[in-house]
Amino acid sequence: MLTEIAPAKINLALHLRRRRPDGYHDLETIFAFTAFGDTLTVVPATDLSLSVSGGFADAAGAGEDNLVLRAARALAAAAGVTAGAAMTLDKQIPVAAGLGGGSADAAAALRLLSRLWGLDWPAVRLEVIAAGLGADVPACVQSHTCFGTGRGDALTPWSDDLAGTPVLLVNPRVAVPTGPVFAGWDQQDRGGIIAGTPLTALRNDMTAAALAIAPVIGDVLAALEATQPMLARMSGSGATCLALYAGIAARDAAAAQLAPHGWWQAASVLR
Ligand code: C5P
Repeated sequence: MLTEIAPAKINLALHLRRRRPDGYHDLETIFAFTAFGDTLTVVPATDLSLSVSGGFADAAGAGEDNLVLRAARALAAAAGVTAGAAMTLDKQIPVAAGLGGGSADAAAALRLLSRLWGLDWPAVRLEVIAAGLGADVPACVQSHTCFGTGRGDALTPWSDDLAGTPVLLVNPRVAVPTGPVFAGWDQQDRGGIIAGTPLTALRNDMTAAALAIAPVIGDVLAALEATQPMLARMSGSGATCLALYAGIAARDAAAAQLAPHGWWQAASVLR
């Protein structure tokens, strides 16, 4: 049996630049990943199959359209593999939450099956297949802090070493679909991400559109700001918000302070 963690994806900053003719948006983003995530395991089999357990199993679903199975089929086709794989996904990342859960699972499947099938493809080769599965999937193949441009799938290294930084993720238990948040952007280009700018001076340009769909995101951000983090920001298209702290004790005190709201939380560290 082989196992891969599918780390949750967060966006420390996300600047929207322009709507493209293909319906996607050119953006600039600082991707980061948490030690917290889903877990994908696999045993050899003649056919491809997936079963899903964990708190968000029902929301994720185990059907043919699950990104794990789509990733498996895409890799098998690209590598000419005829073997199968019996996969099990422990789904801990909330769905439609701005945490790239499906993308993380797909990327974990690529890494896992590359091992199971003896391909041992390097990340750059897996990223080509990943880009066909979703804009965030190449970054999830890396699962380390990186800078994304284009749809978010053109990746370059990010110089800040943030590994080990305590992070708190908070979701008000409202699913927010990605497409409508992008569609709600006012299309004002507020400028790109300039290296060296403090994270607090950067933005998530999807926040206003997400707030229009789920106003409770404003309550989450205000509650996180009240814990005096180094940074509080919505991730992706929401509704999950993240906060970074200088230490584990500050992070855990913040988690305790927010607990009465009954929101979903995960306390972790950046990878
Ligand atoms: O690529 P993925 O399937 O994850 O994207 C989901 C949706 O998010 C797209 O259909 C599109 O509406 C939106 N999107 C976008 N621009 C991006 C990434 C995603 O408009 N750069």
